[in-house]
Amino acid sequence: VFDHIEFDEHEHVAFCHDKGTGLKAIIAVHNSHLGPALGGCRMWPYANSDEALNDVLRLSKGMTYKAAMANLNQGGGKAVIIGDPRAHKTPEMMLAMGRFVESLSGKYISAEDSGMSVADLRTMAQETTYISGTKANYHFAGEEADGNPAPSTAYGVFTGVKASVEHYFGTGLQGKKVAIQGLGHVGYRLAEHLHREGAELFVADIYPEGINRAKEKLNAKIVSPDEILKLDVDVVAPCAMGATINRQSISTLKAKVIAGAANNQLETEDLGEILKGEGILYAPDYVINAGGIIDIYHQKMLSSNEALKSHLEKIGATLKEVYKRADEQNLATNRVANTIAEEKFKK
Ligand code: NAI
Repeated sequence: VFDHIEFDEHEHVAFCHDKGTGLKAIIAVHNSHLGPALGGCRMWPYANSDEALNDVLRLSKGMTYKAAMANLNQGGGKAVIIGDPRAHKTPEMMLAMGRFVESLSGKYISAEDSGMSVADLRTMAQETTYISGTKANYHFAGEEADGNPAPSTAYGVFTGVKASVEHYFGTGLQGKKVAIQGLGHVGYRLAEHLHREGAELFVADIYPEGINRAKEKLNAKIVSPDEILKLDVDVVAPCAMGATINRQSISTLKAKVIAGAANNQLETEDLGEILKGEGILYAPDYVINAGGIIDIYHQKMLSSNEALKSHLEKIGATLKEVYKRADEQNLATNRVANTIAEEKFKK
């Protein structure tokens, strides 16, 4: 999300090496003005510790902005474990990571991220109470809740797509053409919500399972991954990896709205101005995809289904606030989101 990160912006950065288990990890607390720093723990085969440090600094900063925009009493933090999750992860290493989290006495609360499963978090939780996302006491959207926040993320993105379409077209989703890039945990569920509201779906993935199911059950049209962002549709929803919105993809984009789940959708922040210049409405990624962190927060608070749902539905209202200010001040939506978040957490 951010082009430049200063190390000294962060409140606390802790390095851990546990010789017995081979754990090498970094926890970064970016800002805790609004509450303890909440953010996932990622395990990734970083080439070196500089790469891991850069990632954890960037990701933890992003979490501060995300939590502030989601109106959570939480700050931003993140943890990274250096290693290949398939080759290097052991239960003993997860226990050591739990002790490392515990050593910060609640300044940082950990959750799931790439390379880590709910089962890993449960192992960490044997050594620390500062974990969320291991169980949920609600059954959201008819699904058995096991701690995985993807159903909430998808519902939040859906409310965000709806708000963006209302803002841009002044209509609902009925008959709107939406192209979804990536039909994984979030993308497929988003497709279900959109289908229910009468949207016409175009879907792409590099694996056949999700797109075939969407074709059969949701009447979606399958498109090749190379074509999905070039379609003549109303909305594109990036729900795969980051940086798919770049100078090249913008030059062939026909959609009027970009609203999807992926983190770090813009390759660089200045693309916000380019999108604005092209008359394309961009839903800032960390605003529209905050459903995951909202879910993790409500798991921690042992909230009801209704409390979670109404919080997720506020994502649409927050986006409308961003769009309104962007229009009034003639600014790019990503810049306006950053300013609003800073107003909240720098108070
Ligand atoms: P996932 O891994 O379940 O799904 C991603 C899908 O994208 C996979 O099906 C994959 O095959 C597909 N894909 C990969 N490369 C592609 C390409 N070039 N073209 C088309 N499809 C491609 O991940 P998940 O959980 O659905 O997350 C999707 C995005 O949303 C990620 O960027 C993630 O960081 C972000 N996100 C997810 C949250 C969650 O609660 N799961 C929360 C907030 C953000």
